[in-house]
Amino acid sequence: MNRLILALDVYERERAIKIAVDSAPYLWGIKVNWPLILGSGLGIIRELKEATNLPIIADLKLADIPNTNRLIASEVFRAGADYVIAHGFTGRDSVEAVMEEGSVIVVVDMSHEGSKEFLSPSSDGLIDMANELIPFGVVAPATRPERIAYVRRKLRKEIKILSPGVGAQGGRASDAIRAGADFVIVGRSIYTSPNPGESARAIWEEVKEWD
Ligand code: XMP
Repeated sequence: MNRLILALDVYERERAIKIAVDSAPYLWGIKVNWPLILGSGLGIIRELKEATNLPIIADLKLADIPNTNRLIASEVFRAGADYVIAHGFTGRDSVEAVMEEGSVIVVVDMSHEGSKEFLSPSSDGLIDMANELIPFGVVAPATRPERIAYVRRKLRKEIKILSPGVGAQGGRASDAIRAGADFVIVGRSIYTSPNPGESARAIWEEVKEWD
């Protein structure tokens, strides 16, 4: 299994498609976030799928009441997203509303410093909720591999761990996979590179022994 997910956080449609196509041979999937959706429109999801044939994760970090989460998620899945990322701290009903529309990935910890203020102390409850709801996956930070290992120990085996924070934020892909991540999510180290395809290949090489 290929373990690399590209975080395609550029605004421009043509640039996004070129980076995606150049990197595609080394990817499991592509993650789109607000910058690309705001810059290029929701239609970019289907364009990327058609250009690469890869699964698309819409990282909207949904964190609203169940009805609003449902309204947003249904549009995003209809636009072609295969997975949607939702925050778990809004509670079980909000996450379930997204799960009724399609496959979900739940944030249980984050890679930036501020995550230690509120999110990390709540991780246990978020992991317990994930174990009951069984989403496709959870997000845990590559900047703190010990947190990945902690989440892996507590999380049901069938739930994947997706781990951002590699490269620009300081984490190493191989450390994250060794700690128990199923996938690493990499953005700037690939899309700001003069040769994104080559940079994607280098990270793929680093983790391919776990294929
Ligand atoms: P970079 O450029 O830092 O991009 O490689 C990382 C991508 O992943 C998102 N991101 C996170 N998402 N929990 C999340 O749910 C996290 O801890 C986290 N850290 C980074 C970020 O928005 C970007 O798209």
